[in-house]
Amino acid sequence: MKKPWSGRFKQSTDILMETFSASISFDKRLYACDIEGSIAHCKMLAHCKIISPTDARKILNGLRRILRECDAGRFPFSDKLEDIHMNIESRLCEIIGPAAAGKLHTARSRNDQICLDIRLYLRNEVDETVQAINRLCKTLVGLAKKNIDRVIPGYTHLQRAQPVLLAHHLLAYVEMLLRDEERFCDARKRINVMPLGSAALAGTNFPIDRKYTAKLLQFPEISHNSMDAVADRDFAAEFCSAAALLMMHLSRFCEELVIWNSSEFGFVELSDAFTTGSSIMPQKKNPDAAELIRGKSGRVFGNLVALLTLMKGLPLAYNKDLQEDKEPLFDSADTTQVCLKIFTAMMKSAKFKSLSAAELSSRGFLTATDMADYLVVKGVPFREAHEITGKTVAYCLDNGRTLDDLSLRELRKISRRFQDDVSQHIAIKNSVDRKNVYGGTAKKQVRAQISRLTKKLK
Ligand code: ARG
Repeated sequence: MKKPWSGRFKQSTDILMETFSASISFDKRLYACDIEGSIAHCKMLAHCKIISPTDARKILNGLRRILRECDAGRFPFSDKLEDIHMNIESRLCEIIGPAAAGKLHTARSRNDQICLDIRLYLRNEVDETVQAINRLCKTLVGLAKKNIDRVIPGYTHLQRAQPVLLAHHLLAYVEMLLRDEERFCDARKRINVMPLGSAALAGTNFPIDRKYTAKLLQFPEISHNSMDAVADRDFAAEFCSAAALLMMHLSRFCEELVIWNSSEFGFVELSDAFTTGSSIMPQKKNPDAAELIRGKSGRVFGNLVALLTLMKGLPLAYNKDLQEDKEPLFDSADTTQVCLKIFTAMMKSAKFKSLSAAELSSRGFLTATDMADYLVVKGVPFREAHEITGKTVAYCLDNGRTLDDLSLRELRKISRRFQDDVSQHIAIKNSVDRKNVYGGTAKKQVRAQISRLTKKLK
């Protein structure tokens, strides 16, 4: 097959090299973006009278036919034609003949073409990802509402710390996810810049109208420097970085679900639909979906590092290394979206379980801080209150007791500051409701957050 550069070459490409340098196996997914870009470019060339209306019409018809062929899975992609751009151009040649087809690439290089394709592709991926994040957030807010009365232990160091509403815990992730969404939207601003017209690296000799192309493709901005436009992939790294942070959040949430779903914790039961059994141990129901999402975060982090490493040593402007940007980028977009989808479905079908007040107070002394605060209210300096409560906990540990089943007499042996209102103060429910600070776990505050988030997510 004749290469576009065959004029200068005496020997044909080695078959090994042909396979090695081909990107069509993975960049063929850009066909719709590539054709959309070519259609706009062709219209602009005609608009600027660089090609004739007749040639433009032929090219446009040819491109639309190719789009239909690709959509229908009938397009004959070939390794010999290296990448998506050359595959489409060669097919265009077959369909409308070289005289007209040969004019499409006027004032364009594959270097600005691929950049445009990736930007069009990513713009869409951002929108899909943002929608998926939104669906997950709505699901979580719905679960928070439905489980507004459930109390779970809050942890630090994975040690029982203070009681919190399950809803508060779920909404913590909504906050993280909404920041992820913001990061994607922010990256979109820098993705949404039109690079065509940069050509190979220097710009073009032809009197093109870049703003016209940008308008056709709905780009609010055009790139300001042709070398920057074809050389940098920072916008792709930003996407991968937003994806990495999002996956870190999902992975962390998954880790908690794995723990919560264990028989030791038993806070949640993941549905059969998102768990699997064991081939040897009949009793097992494994939280595979959560584990896989946690596992897949690794490759999404890796993709970011791959992109950064790919770029760090490249002299301006385009280098073939940049062809290696696509697989990590595609993988980050695909992995993130499928994980969001699975995670949302897994959460929707999960059943949260109630822990009784006895279970909550039997282990971990969740309301020890409330007891110290109680003493503070009675006029004891906090450090002394901490000490007294510490002694009370030690007394419980020595005698197999819990804070709430100590009698007032026992408590007053430890400190005369204890009075009969202490038991009210350290009751689990009261402990939660007293965290009535903005952003705290009191039901009133959590309700306020649920309505704020419900409005925001509309
Ligand atoms: N397949 C190439 C890529 O993905 C397109 C640009 C090729 N440009 C070039 N000068 N070889 O980067």
